[in-house]
Amino acid sequence: MTKQTSEIARRRTFGIVAHPDAGKTTLTEKLLLFGGAIQEAGAVKSNKIKKSTTSDFMEIERQRGISVATSVMAFDYAEKKINILDTPGHKDFAEDTYRTLTAVDSVIVVIDVAKGVEEQTEKLVEVCRMRKTPVIVFINKMDRPGKEAFDLLDEVEQKLLLKAVPLSWPIGMGDRFKGVYNLFEERIVLFRPDNKQGRPEETIEFTDLQDPELEKLIGEDAAEELREEIEMIRGVYPKFNHDTYLRGEVSPVFFGSAVNNFGVKELLDCFVRIAPAPQPRPTEERQVKPDENQFAGFVFKIHANMDPRHRDRIAFLRICAGTFERNTNYLHVRQGRKLKFANPTSFMADRKEVIDLAYAGDVVGLYDSGNFKIGDTLTEGEELHFKGIPSFSPEQFRRVMNGDPLKSKQLAKGIDQLMDEGVAQLFTREVDNAQIIGTVGALQFDVIQYRLEHEYGATVLYEPINLYKALWVTSSDEDALRAFSERRRQQIAVDKEGRLVYLADSAWTLQMARDNHPEIAFHLTSEH
Ligand code: G4P
Repeated sequence: MTKQTSEIARRRTFGIVAHPDAGKTTLTEKLLLFGGAIQEAGAVKSNKIKKSTTSDFMEIERQRGISVATSVMAFDYAEKKINILDTPGHKDFAEDTYRTLTAVDSVIVVIDVAKGVEEQTEKLVEVCRMRKTPVIVFINKMDRPGKEAFDLLDEVEQKLLLKAVPLSWPIGMGDRFKGVYNLFEERIVLFRPDNKQGRPEETIEFTDLQDPELEKLIGEDAAEELREEIEMIRGVYPKFNHDTYLRGEVSPVFFGSAVNNFGVKELLDCFVRIAPAPQPRPTEERQVKPDENQFAGFVFKIHANMDPRHRDRIAFLRICAGTFERNTNYLHVRQGRKLKFANPTSFMADRKEVIDLAYAGDVVGLYDSGNFKIGDTLTEGEELHFKGIPSFSPEQFRRVMNGDPLKSKQLAKGIDQLMDEGVAQLFTREVDNAQIIGTVGALQFDVIQYRLEHEYGATVLYEPINLYKALWVTSSDEDALRAFSERRRQQIAVDKEGRLVYLADSAWTLQMARDNHPEIAFHLTSEH
């Protein structure tokens, strides 16, 4: 095995997704503790956006600034190199999260035992399902009263449409939480509250649950209940099968308490055994495999530098094939020119450092003065275009007006660059050239306004516009598409890539358009 092959094979690049407050930051921190990447709890700053009123968005940007450092957290554990890609939980930044999911090979979903499956989790897991990304579920906060374990598994199946396979099972809950039975390794792991610094858990081998020792360990009632439940699980749920997990067809489920560092090691130990190594990725031209000789990668996220003295941005590149080297010329496929990078950065939990070499599966940060946009591909020369980095149909719209006629150039440039960063989407209405910004959440409008003013010296004014949705339209019949867009000129726009978009002002008009034009396909994402 070459060094490249073995280095790539030991990488595990994944994301943790959760509804805000489920415990993503806490779990991340405990994983980093096990990996020795941080020395004490509390070292990882939460990049959680705690407030969401518009006047707080400076604070939000500050917190997003912090999140540059925690965008990728790498550590070694059990001979694997683990890359955790951070995903914002706040719904207004959902598009960031969707795009980050294009750069991972698997996902851990954190669910709060009391709240069960929440809305944000449903949406994010839907993206995983679309891409057949393997998912592990961690049910958190078992030290608190919550829903019954069987009900939670039902929710996972019904709301997330994942086939659940419990690999651990809780013994009691809340005040009566005693630990979990690890079905994967047939042992009992006893709960000890307040284990913040991660002392080893007390585990007891228990292959035969009929053994009367069980009563002594967890008490008569709990023992009886556990035996019944495990029997039921073995009857109802399939045995864990690695291949079906890797295909994204079943999802192992763990129970624990991140803040108490309980069940986290079980999760991590199982993760390093089963989670996929870097996977092949489709491009428009061909499938790109991690262990190819030549390097290829794509930009999935761009982060503005919050330090006003450094106007540059950081483009996050997922390496999909081969190795990436510092100070080496690579082809920027969209621009058709070579670029080299003097300071590619890797991220190690609490610090960044310049790297000379990175392998497929890794993420590097590239300082960028405006060359990149989301989805851009870098290669050693081959013209490849990675697929699967779609834009999503926005839900909020404003018409953009120039507030300072002397700064129209600055405004145009600022909008152009912010759209390339993926902050929002710009649509130009054909009939009157109106510029319309569409976003997933309302916060982005304030972010855009603020950044245009402070980074580009431009003033943007927003006018309300009555729009329900923007959908990409296509048809196999080009004449029909042309006729449709001429008839509906008032509602036709183009996105930044020149793709046709239908602007529906209500659910009703959208339905009418669909009913009257069966020859036209209306898409919720830019990639169909
Ligand atoms: P997030 O990143 O998913 O938004 O969640 P985060 O980890 O910040 O956790 C949200 C809250 O839940 C935190 O409390 C955290 O301490 C708590 N928490 C996480 N895991 C557990 C658990 O296993 N059991 C219990 N009981 N609580 C847990 P907070 O009060 O919002 O913040 P903090 O002041 O404690 O940091």
